[in-house]
Amino acid sequence: MNRIGFSPRSRWPVAHPRNSRNPRLKMDGNMSKAKEVVVITGASAGVGRATARLFGERGACVGLIARSRRRLEAAKREIEAAGGHSLALVADVANAQEIETAAEQIENEFGPIDIWINNAMATVFAPFHEVTPEEFRRTTEVTYLGYVYGTMAALKRMKPRDRGVIVQVGSALAYRSIPLQSAYCGAKHAIVGFTDSLRSELMRPTAPSTPGPMATVSSFR
Ligand SMILES: NC(=O)c1ccc[n+]([C@@H]2O[C@H](COP(=O)([O-])OP(=O)(O)OC[C@H]3O[C@@H](n4cnc5c(N)ncnc54)[C@H](OP(=O)(O)O)[C@@H]3O)[C@@H](O)[C@H]2O)c1
Repeated sequence: MNRIGFSPRSRWPVAHPRNSRNPRLKMDGNMSKAKEVVVITGASAGVGRATARLFGERGACVGLIARSRRRLEAAKREIEAAGGHSLALVADVANAQEIETAAEQIENEFGPIDIWINNAMATVFAPFHEVTPEEFRRTTEVTYLGYVYGTMAALKRMKPRDRGVIVQVGSALAYRSIPLQSAYCGAKHAIVGFTDSLRSELMRPTAPSTPGPMATVSSFR
């Protein structure tokens, strides 16, 4: 997993009781922290849905993105039963405009996004010579460009604030390829290359009056 982080200068805005209609500003037990605003793509199933539920247990405000309205609504109910807040948004990660619109809706509902998790994926299992150009293109658009578009939407909002974390859910296949998954392996490798480039860009020193973002990385397979 790759993570791009910004220095948390004012990570936890102080909540105020008069703002209690906004779930982001509801106070927790020690009356000092606002809730995290988290976005998860591919939140209607598998790893994304399990992650969303865990954030729900922390009382987070979770923006859920996937294509299936029915499964998104089920994920939303799970989060709310666990004590969190959520917004279910139907969007295709391969469509940059849909992801930008979803980010806007989430910030309108919950406030500034703290954590953006790119997780949605598509794959095709077949020998390369049987994969059609359309299948290869779609896998690349969802699994690779979906992460790029998610990162664009997140960074557009986080960079001016100098605050936020972007998580790229990775895979062992981002580092070691296997047969029958050429499109998926290519996309997962591409995410690593893209993220390394972006991280080094964000580490570029800036003028002293404008504290620069800090980049960190963690990997697991
Ligand atoms: N499961 C594993 O063993 C494993 C191992 C290594 C890495 N990973 C990584 O973990 C992540 C999640 O994998 P998973 O196994 O949990 O996948 P999964 O169970 O197949 O779930 C994929 C999720 O992505 C959504 N999705 C698919 N296409 C989409 C699109 N075009 N736009 C928006 N959402 C879309 C799906 O929902 P809709 O169909 O409703 O859109 C679903 O919520 C992936 O990045 C994968 O590479 C998984």
